[in-house]
Amino acid sequence: MAKIIIAEDDLNTLQGLVTIISREGHEVLSAPDGQEAYALMAEHGDVEVLLTDLKMPGLSGLELSSKVKETFPETQIIVMTAFGTVDTAVQAMKGGVYDYLTKPIDIEELLVILEKALRQRALRLENLELWGLVSEKYAFESIIAVSGVMKNIFRAIRKVAATTATVLIQGESGTGKELFARAIHFNSPRARETMVEVNCASIPLTLIESELFGHEKGAFTGAYRTQKGKFETADGGTIFLDEISLLSPDLQGKLLRVLQERSFQRVGGTRTIEVDVRVLAATNQDLKAMVDRGEFREDLYYRLNVVPIHIPPLRERTEDVPALVNHFMEKFAKEQPNPPTSITQGALDELIGYDWPGNVRELENTIESAMVLTDGDVITEEHLSILGQPIWEREAASGPEMAELTLKEQLERAERRILKRILEQVDGNRTKAAEILGLSTRAIRYKIKQYEL
Ligand SMILES: Nc1ncnc2c1ncn2[C@@H]1O[C@H](COP(=O)(O)OP(=O)(O)OP(=O)(O)O)[C@@H](O)[C@H]1O
Ligand SMILES: [Mg+2]
Repeated sequence: MAKIIIAEDDLNTLQGLVTIISREGHEVLSAPDGQEAYALMAEHGDVEVLLTDLKMPGLSGLELSSKVKETFPETQIIVMTAFGTVDTAVQAMKGGVYDYLTKPIDIEELLVILEKALRQRALRLENLELWGLVSEKYAFESIIAVSGVMKNIFRAIRKVAATTATVLIQGESGTGKELFARAIHFNSPRARETMVEVNCASIPLTLIESELFGHEKGAFTGAYRTQKGKFETADGGTIFLDEISLLSPDLQGKLLRVLQERSFQRVGGTRTIEVDVRVLAATNQDLKAMVDRGEFREDLYYRLNVVPIHIPPLRERTEDVPALVNHFMEKFAKEQPNPPTSITQGALDELIGYDWPGNVRELENTIESAMVLTDGDVITEEHLSILGQPIWEREAASGPEMAELTLKEQLERAERRILKRILEQVDGNRTKAAEILGLSTRAIRYKIKQYEL
């Protein structure tokens, strides 16, 4: 339950309030004037709510409120006022006071406002905490950049984060475009404002316009009520347009207008809506090549490409691999009871030598599964899923239960694996597979059935 301070110079009222609020299970501290209330605040520090009269000798309720607001911003303040001085209470609310009650105090109203104040405070703290987690996740410190190119990109991102410039991030799938976009926002002066992400790939083409710009009631079948679009939601903050290459020519034109004029109209609307939105965009396509082929508007390309960031594929910056491996091992170690703590040089060499078509995301997944598959302290080549065998087979081959299998069972396992591989090589052609393996077609049919291939 909460800790609450009540400041009131009328001792009868004070006693009454203490009784009522204590009955709710809260810890209540009382003060006959502002001075003492403030001393109590300072002594306890973590007071959830201050309920204070406005007219008190010495330090008035208004003065007390503004002092508390300054020193203890997390404390919710509720003021009590006599009927004729409601104006002062309203004034106090502009200064950050949560709410006011008029005297004589209605007990029910008091309890309702108190609960609301407590709930709002909890919510605000939760948001603050969440924000802390999110901003930590996208702090520059959690981005790995060891290679020269990545260090340059990192420097560029740090610089551009401080501005409101439009940024176009290009790179193959899994190179970190989304991570970088979020890092820019969460390290910008707009960090505490909204970042709205729109993945153009996951919204049906017909809906993108209304997603982005909103629509008026009745704009199209199914538009039962007026709805704000992402640009409006992002007002004051950042919008991240992911997979921008997928925008239709029509929408490319509309987006261009927003970038030029910072204003737009909702679908089916006539009113011009102005917004202050920072735009970040990303694509895994070569946008310039699309411009050259006539598939993307040149003028829009230049509007987006104010600050270009090209993230190279992982295979072109293998110096980053060991640090990324380390980073992901630490990350996934937190998610399992006895995580492996190191990796052999042999395994690391394999990771460095691999060509990573799925880039950093694929490396991340590889490390995650290796961490799970490793029983001891050390990740070895055996645990790397990129080295060919499907995971369930690897598990069988390296797991502790292998030693417990009979020879026959072990041979069957091997036989199944060989058959499976050959069948894949010959696209499931049984005659060919039988020929390669020196079996009759009948025998191979039998084995395929036996092993459920
Ligand atoms: N330099 C890096 N440091 C740490 N983690 C990284 C780095 N680059 C990428 N990652 C991680 O790799 C994963 C993939 O990154 P992200 O989702 O940003 O890629 P993407 O380029 O947006 O991919 P896609 O085009 O498929 O959407 C994420 O978990 C991200 O945190
Ligand atoms: Mg992405």
